[in-house]
Amino acid sequence: MSIKKNTGFKICVVGAGHVGLPAAACFAELGHKVICADNDAKKISALKKLKMPFFEPDMEDLVVKNYKKGNLEFLSSLDEAIKRSEVIFIAVGTPPMPDGSADLTAIENVAHAVARNLNGYKLVVEKSTVPVQTGRKIEETIARYKKTDAVCDVASNPEFLREGKAVSDFFYPDRIVIGTSSRRAETILRSIYAKLKARIVVTDINTAELIKHASNSFLAMKISFINAVSRVCDLAGADVKKVAQAMGFDKRISPHFLSAGIGWGGFCFPKDVEAFIYISQKLGYDFNLLKEVRNVNYDQRKYFVNKIKEKLWVLKGKKIAVLGLSFKPDTDDMRFAPSIDIVELLSREGAELFLYDPKPEEAKKIFTAKNIHFSKTAYDAAKGADCVCFLTEWKGLLDIDLAKVRRIVNHPLIADGRNMFNRADIVAKGFEYIALGA
Ligand code: UGA
Repeated sequence: MSIKKNTGFKICVVGAGHVGLPAAACFAELGHKVICADNDAKKISALKKLKMPFFEPDMEDLVVKNYKKGNLEFLSSLDEAIKRSEVIFIAVGTPPMPDGSADLTAIENVAHAVARNLNGYKLVVEKSTVPVQTGRKIEETIARYKKTDAVCDVASNPEFLREGKAVSDFFYPDRIVIGTSSRRAETILRSIYAKLKARIVVTDINTAELIKHASNSFLAMKISFINAVSRVCDLAGADVKKVAQAMGFDKRISPHFLSAGIGWGGFCFPKDVEAFIYISQKLGYDFNLLKEVRNVNYDQRKYFVNKIKEKLWVLKGKKIAVLGLSFKPDTDDMRFAPSIDIVELLSREGAELFLYDPKPEEAKKIFTAKNIHFSKTAYDAAKGADCVCFLTEWKGLLDIDLAKVRRIVNHPLIADGRNMFNRADIVAKGFEYIALGA
């Protein structure tokens, strides 16, 4: 294979999930010929009809454009996809096991498929978040099961895309990490990303794998830190938003990921923090700091519900509106969303819950108890409510007409799980206000 700068590579992205699908569309947009493969035949046939399996801003446009151009193809046969590709990005799920470790079955399956279909040089690249030393296992598996003497390199190129911002994160990354000991693999990966103006960090595979775990865990720690500070602010009568703002002006701290609230959720932080605790333990280090990061996070949800209980006293029969359910704005992803615990806690107390989210489809599959109802608009949910909770800072909720809400509620109480409003404004509009340290 000749390697030229900006050459269109034949790329296969395995996994059409929240990492794989946006990445496949973006690689195609960079001019590569991309096959996105997934063993979920239903998902693939829907994608061929240009129906997206989940909502991600700007992704659909890129998929449609590149599919029509012939740069992006969808296949349910992994064997065929691998045979036809030079570079295989693994973006399959690594879901958590009950003990916190990552289930690597899907990764191993891809390694076997590569070994079966090694019809020439191939570069296998881990994109999914995987425990350190997984790259080595992939190398060993391919070497053990391959049937030809074709050469295969393995590299780690961890993904730092955020849901809801995946496309812009792809094109404007803070850094691209390439973990490999092969010059050839490094050159190919540099060429694949050549059109992006990004800082590239080259390391060995183990280090690249650890960079991903350390980055996600550090961000989770930052949020848990400010959430712990929010508790002290509540006790001391201080304002955590001002504390965070002033801390963030210090370049060494930075203002990002310092918003206190009901804590982090989603498919990445919860599972990656667990997996990092697990891997560290396995390697011989007890990562107590991360265990506390986790505890602070989950405690924040209970603390929020207790605050509501303190105000409303008996929750049984009270009408509570819950606005914003996804784990963060601009996604319909409900995996490990803080709203799951909060709705569950309120529901168990017998409150009548009226839920609203701009993208409610996933949430509807989760919240099925008799006392949980879905409303078409935020105002429908708030009508007659004794408390209006905000759990996700969707734009449409940030802009909500609070004067209108004040007119339709039964009791004017706002519980702001994301500290998204200003206390003085809310009080001026005639509400009581619950927030977290603000
Ligand atoms: C996270 C990382 O930010 C990405 O870099 C990484 O690629 C991704 O995981 C992954 O491993 O695949 P994501 O899970 O999409 O991305 O979401 P974030 O934007 O990081 O937010 C995570 C959670 O933290 C959300 O529930 C959010 O509401 C919460 N959060 C975030 C706060 O509570 N406070 C903050 O200040 C920031």
